[in-house]
Amino acid sequence: MGLAITDTTLRDAHQSLLATRMRTEDMLPIAEKMDAAGFHSLEVWGGATFDTCMRFLNEDPWERLRTLRRHFRQTKLQMLLRGQNLVGYKHYADDVVEAFVTRARENGIDIFRIFDALNDERNMAKPMEVAKKVGGRVQATLSYTISPVHNIAHYVTKAKTLVDMGADSICIKDMAGIITPTAAYELVKRIKDDLHIMVQLHCHYTSGMASMAYLKAIEAGVDVVDTAISSMAMSTSQPPTESLVAALQGTPYDTGLDLELLSEIAQYFQQVRKKYAQFDLAAGTVDVNVLRYQIPGGMISNFISQLSQQNALDKLPEVLEEVPRVREDLGYPPLVTPTSQIVGSQAVLNVLAGERYKMVSNEVKAYVRGLYGQPPAPVKEDVRRKIIGDEEPITCRPAGLLEPQLPEAKKAIAAYLESEEDVLSYALFPAVAEKFLEERMAGKYKVDFSIAREGLANSGLAYHPV
Ligand code: CO
Repeated sequence: MGLAITDTTLRDAHQSLLATRMRTEDMLPIAEKMDAAGFHSLEVWGGATFDTCMRFLNEDPWERLRTLRRHFRQTKLQMLLRGQNLVGYKHYADDVVEAFVTRARENGIDIFRIFDALNDERNMAKPMEVAKKVGGRVQATLSYTISPVHNIAHYVTKAKTLVDMGADSICIKDMAGIITPTAAYELVKRIKDDLHIMVQLHCHYTSGMASMAYLKAIEAGVDVVDTAISSMAMSTSQPPTESLVAALQGTPYDTGLDLELLSEIAQYFQQVRKKYAQFDLAAGTVDVNVLRYQIPGGMISNFISQLSQQNALDKLPEVLEEVPRVREDLGYPPLVTPTSQIVGSQAVLNVLAGERYKMVSNEVKAYVRGLYGQPPAPVKEDVRRKIIGDEEPITCRPAGLLEPQLPEAKKAIAAYLESEEDVLSYALFPAVAEKFLEERMAGKYKVDFSIAREGLANSGLAYHPV
């Protein structure tokens, strides 16, 4: 069987290139063609899209999902779920996780790609368990990074744990775009040989190595790779679909995808992208900093805006040097949401204060206390002492300390409540959701309730077989 492809255009690609601003109305006109293309799946939801829908686009993220489900009749839909953080930036209580994953499934998600920034499987256990229970396919994820503790054996052991926990497939998530072709080959081969499970590779093009990494991973037996349509690919997005399809034509890995059709899709998004030019930060080039400092592209633009606000843009080189040091102090966390923000902001504080850890963010304090999970390596003793003194870090599953959060959320937004989905939106992002729901109630946004969740369930579309 040939190589299978997950298209990320409607989630990761516009999150990476256009600040997650693509509107549902720009996805629908091309949906029929994308649905006909023969992708293994389409990543369309989760990550930053949930927050962004309400915060910037005045869209209900749940309604987006239902609408997409209605339009994609053949192709499996998948989402990116940040473990116990769901689609937010902190741990939520188990009752929120249970309800969120259940509703995501009911509204149309087939495949749940679940990761934890620290690869702490305890933060993935609950969402994995619920996704399985509600009939979703669980893709457990290894957040890929490079450090003295992150060798091939480390990842294979992690992958085995995730398979034992019920994973249907394993995703290697190279969010920074730093996996080398050789590492991709070895990692895929070892996981395939040892665990005999479906393996998917997710790379960002940032360093320019991703297409090479894919080819080596394909030779090692990877089952699925993630690409974006060419006009939404490269830079900090995924490798371009068409190039890979063309490269594999006539080989045993032939994807069977139609380049004519893909070209029509590419032309469509080339036009759409122009509408979002103000958010389009992609330089269209390869970023060497990611190889020097392991800093993902998105982080650098954050630094530039943070430092500009402080009138300290000249400190950028120092901050870039400081990031790997903070990361080492904190036990080599992979840099992905939310650890990329945690490490990045602390690096800025360390440079601006002129003394390391003189000022410490609340997030770093929580991290050192173990509230994000167990770091890959221990936090350096002297750094820990400087930040939390003699206090002992917790050793239990962090979310085990959280009381149920749904009853409170339900009470807080009783006035605007249309559905349990609304309660979840509020539980995740109280301030943003309250404003959105209040304005929706006031009739500021038109909502098409004709595609309510119940209607979808009856049509059979919500429960798409996987
Ligand atoms: Co990604």
